[in-house]
Amino acid sequence: MISVSIRRADPACGKEPWIEEYKVPRSRARRVLDLLEYIQEELDPSLGWRTHICRDTCCSACWVMVNGKRKMACATVIRDDQDSLLLEPVSDSPLIRDLVVDFSKGKGRSGS
Ligand code: FES
Repeated sequence: MISVSIRRADPACGKEPWIEEYKVPRSRARRVLDLLEYIQEELDPSLGWRTHICRDTCCSACWVMVNGKRKMACATVIRDDQDSLLLEPVSDSPLIRDLVVDFSKGKGRSGS
């Protein structure tokens, strides 16, 4: 199992951000995107994450902070020796909810 900690927040509700922890079978977690889809589909449908995405490095809608670094979820492979991850929304665009940000403002969808 891989332990996944996700920084969640819902500014519309005025609730303070919190960290939610999930356990994902390693067999379901080749990439960070796989983790997020597994969590949303199997463990917690309330997790805010984009679902209408290309899943293959074309749309640039899957930027997320992975252990403090800005990464594309669909292009970030989980190493065999990696047992835990911290996922947070990118901090350079306004937060909408959980891992979903407004890419039309801030740094946007560019990786640099
Ligand atoms: S899902 Fe489209 S670029 Fe990652």
